Amino acid sequence: MELDPASIGIAERYKLLIGGIVPRPIALVSTRSTQGRLNLAPFSFFAGVGSDPMSLLFCPVNTPQGGEKDSLRNAKPRSEDGTGEFVVNVATEAYAARVAACAEPLAFGESEFDAAGLTPAPSRVVAPPRVAESPIAFECRTLDVIRLNPGVAGGGNIVVGEVLHVYVRDDLISDRLHIDPDRLAAIARMGGPSYCRTRERFQMPMGLEALRTPPRLEPPPTT
Ligand SMILES: Cc1cc2nc3c(=O)[nH]c(=O)nc-3n(C[C@H](O)[C@H](O)[C@H](O)COP(=O)(O)O)c2cc1C
Repeated sequence: MELDPASIGIAERYKLLIGGIVPRPIALVSTRSTQGRLNLAPFSFFAGVGSDPMSLLFCPVNTPQGGEKDSLRNAKPRSEDGTGEFVVNVATEAYAARVAACAEPLAFGESEFDAAGLTPAPSRVVAPPRVAESPIAFECRTLDVIRLNPGVAGGGNIVVGEVLHVYVRDDLISDRLHIDPDRLAAIARMGGPSYCRTRERFQMPMGLEALRTPPRLEPPPTT
């Protein structure tokens, strides 16, 4: 099938994005409004950007009315009347249902921490708290917001953040800063209501060597 985005609807385009770009890691983004109210929401249009500065991005799409989601409203720079700060908490199996619960559209100012039963823990550098249940948190300062179609439903926005501080739960990380993927047990989003785990993995070298080396299954977790 050949598909021209110009000849299909917004809902169909969305289906192709979420069905074709899989699995997507999930950022549970915590923010604070300028009035000090806490907000939490999951975003699977989420990726690392670079290491100098250490940076990442997430993409809150415009609401059906063309407005900004609360996470964008709070995280946008101070020059745009936001707070310029957010925390990305990594979504894991241990609190998966509570991550999904945070997608409930609450009124601006109502906290998903309370509604989903998650615990705010003080961040080190930024004002929004991290999620205590998350084993990894990236504290970020907003560097830029790129708006692809402001005011229009379905228009995308890219929030780019500089990572100012990283929290990793001690039992997950080695002295050489290797993060144990079995202990982390991150989850990822597929299409629609479908998610996947990260328990089964295989290794292969990078580059042409990969063609000469059969993929090697990583042993299942021992704990
Ligand atoms: C796992 C998951 C991933 C999601 N990813 C995105 C995303 O990448 N972009 C987006 O705009 N909404 C995404 N959503 C929907 C938002 O979480 C939802 O609209 C939320 O209410 C926004 O909250 P806010 O208004 O507090 O920012 C996702 C929902 C779930 C459950």
